[in-house]
Parts: sequence; C-alpha cells; structure tokens
Amino acid sequence: MSSTTARTAEPLRVAVLVGSTREGRFAPIVTRWLSGQLGRRDDMRTDVIDLTETPLPHTLPAFGQEPSPSTLELLAAVSPRLAAADAFVFVTPEYNHSFPASLKNAIDWHNEQWHGKPVAFVSYGGLSGGLRAVEQLRVVMAELNATTIRNTVSFHNAWGDFDEDGNSTEPAADVAAKALLDQLSWWAHALRDARSVRPYAA
Ligand SMILES: Cc1cc2nc3c(=O)[nH]c(=O)nc-3n(C[C@H](O)[C@H](O)[C@H](O)COP(=O)(O)O)c2cc1C
Repeated sequence: MSSTTARTAEPLRVAVLVGSTREGRFAPIVTRWLSGQLGRRDDMRTDVIDLTETPLPHTLPAFGQEPSPSTLELLAAVSPRLAAADAFVFVTPEYNHSFPASLKNAIDWHNEQWHGKPVAFVSYGGLSGGLRAVEQLRVVMAELNATTIRNTVSFHNAWGDFDEDGNSTEPAADVAAKALLDQLSWWAHALRDARSVRPYAA
C-alpha cells in the first residue's frame, strides 16, 4: 500500500472551533449536539477547541517579531491542533450581524494552518440563525486559502431547539448535520489527498 493510500484510509481529523467565549454563553449546548453528530461517524475524529479553555492574546506581534514566551505558550495549546486538522467546523453565534471577535482573533493568529482545508459552519442566533455571521466568515476564510462548505446548519432562535439532554428537538437538524458532514468529508478527503501529493503553496 502506498503512503497516499494509507493516509486516505485514516479517519479525518476534524477540529471544532467554538467561537463564543461570552459568560453564560449558549455555545456549549450547540457544541455538545455537534459532537454527538460527529461521534456517529467512523470517518471522523473530533478535537473540540474551546477558546475559553485555550485563550489567545488580543494583541498581535509586530510583523517579523516573534511572539513573547507567554504568548507562545498560549499558542502551543491551539496552533498545533489547527495544523493537524484535516477539516474544521466553526460553531458561531451572530453578534451584531457578524461573528464574535473571539473567533476572528483565533483566525487572525493563524495562517498556513487554514491553507487548502475545508471549513463548515454550524451557526445559531436570533431570527437569522447566525447566517449573516456565516456569510462573513466565508469571505474571511477565502482570504486564508481555505474552502467553505456550501451547506450550513443554523439554529434560528436557538434557545428552544434543544431538550435538557442537549438533543435537538428539531429532527431536520440531524438530517442537515449529516448532509453538512458528508460534504465536509468529501472536501477533506479530496484536499488531504491533494496536499499529500502536492503541498499547498499559496
Ligand atoms: C453582542 C451581541 C450581539 C448580538 N447580535 C445579534 C444579531 O445581530 N443577530 C442575532 O440573531 N442575534 C444576535 N445576538 C444574539 C446571539 O446570537 C445569542 O445571544 C447567542 O446565544 C449568542 O451566542 P453565545 O450565547 O454562545 O455567546 C447578539 C448577542 C450578543 C451578545
């Protein structure tokens, strides 16, 4: 078996990035549901990166300047996990018709970790279900040489969409999640295979 074939058979490493760090946030409910959906799949292994557990500084270093030792320590808890991922799912709420600053900060701290990889979105919010945040994230991730997945899962007025065990009370959500993850799987396999033959060079 060639190394490419062997790599293709490995489960995809999917990093779930939890965008909200707000006190009292709703994000863990959505993330737990998503983790359950991912856990049903034998083609994916999940790594949940919760930015409240792995905070990153809000001040970027000057161009060409190495981050401080304390910043490097914080980055070490996040950056290698993003680099190792074959695919990403961003769990994002909508704040003022966009996505949270905490998510943008985590995106901006990184660059090549996103290159040539697919990003899917699970969003939530009020009436819009976070879809305006998602559309803006597509523009941002294009700049970072990532590709975004067409389908989304969005929870509109999300607070009534989950029971006390964290299950979705809306059966369509589980169906939508399968479609989303199937698309993510296709792109993640295709891009992982491509990167193994020809490393992404932007
Ligand atoms: C600063 C702020 C701005 C918000 N703006 C919007 C908005 O523009 N559209 C919307 O649908 N919901 C908006 N919401 C509601 C959030 O989407 C909702 O509270 C969601 O639960 C936030 O995610 P979190 O609880 O995980 O932080 C806003 C919430 C906050 C805190």
